[in-house]
Amino acid sequence: MDGNGRWARQRLLPRLAGHSQGVESLRRCVRACVARGVRALTVFAFSSENWGRPAEEVSGLMGLLAKALAREVPELSRDGVCVRFVGDREGLSESVRNGLAQAERATQGNSRLVLSVCFNYGGRWDIAQAAAALAARGEPITESALCGALALAHVPDPDLVIRTGGEKRLSNFLLWQAAYSELFFSDLLWPDFDEAALDAALDWYAGRERRFGRTSEQVRAGLEPEPLRA
Ligand code: IPE
Ligand code: MG
Repeated sequence: MDGNGRWARQRLLPRLAGHSQGVESLRRCVRACVARGVRALTVFAFSSENWGRPAEEVSGLMGLLAKALAREVPELSRDGVCVRFVGDREGLSESVRNGLAQAERATQGNSRLVLSVCFNYGGRWDIAQAAAALAARGEPITESALCGALALAHVPDPDLVIRTGGEKRLSNFLLWQAAYSELFFSDLLWPDFDEAALDAALDWYAGRERRFGRTSEQVRAGLEPEPLRA
C-alpha cells in the first residue's frame, strides 16, 4: 500500500493525513474483495524498516492503527472478515500488542475473507524466524517444514501481488510466498486505488498464463502442475 505520503504532499497536507486516507482506501479494498469472493487478502502496513522514519510519523502510524482497530472491528466482523496480524510483535508496545490480540480474538470465528495485516513485518524476518523455530525444535530445514513455520502459514501463497505507488520492487514483502505470484504494479497512489483499479488488476490477472515452471503446451493440455518440490 504505497503512496500515502505523496498523496498528502500533493495536497499540501502532512504525511499522516495520507496514511489516514490510506486506511479509508484499505477499508474500501477489503469490502470490494469480500464482494468479489476473494478468500485471502494480505496487506503490507508497516515494515521492519519503517522504524527508520521520523519519530512523529512512526507514532502517528501506531496511533492510526489503534484507532482503526477500535473503529473497524465490528464492521469487519459483520462482513465475515477474520483479521490476523503478521510480524514481529516483540518490537511493539504493550498497548499495540493488546489491540492486535483483541482484534484477532474478536474476528477469529469468521471465514469469508482472511485479512492478514503485515505489521512490523519483513520477508527476511519471516524466513529467518521460521528457520530459527525449526532449528530450536531440532527439525530438519526443508521447504515444506519452512512453509509450515512461516508467520503466513495460515493462508496459501498469493496468486496476485499488487504494489501501488509506481515503484517496481517487492521491498521485503512476501519474499518466500511470492515465488510464483503474478506481480501487478499500479502507478496510482494507495489512497487513489479504488474498486475500478482493483478490477483492472483482477482482469489483468485473469489473462495471465500460470506455468509454475512448465511449458505453455503442457499448461494448455490441462496437465496439472507438479506440486512444488518439498
Ligand atoms: C504508505 O506509503 C506505506 C507505509 C509505510 C504506511 P508511504 O508512506 O511509503 O508513501 P510515499 O511513498 O511516501 O508516497
Ligand atoms: Mg513509500
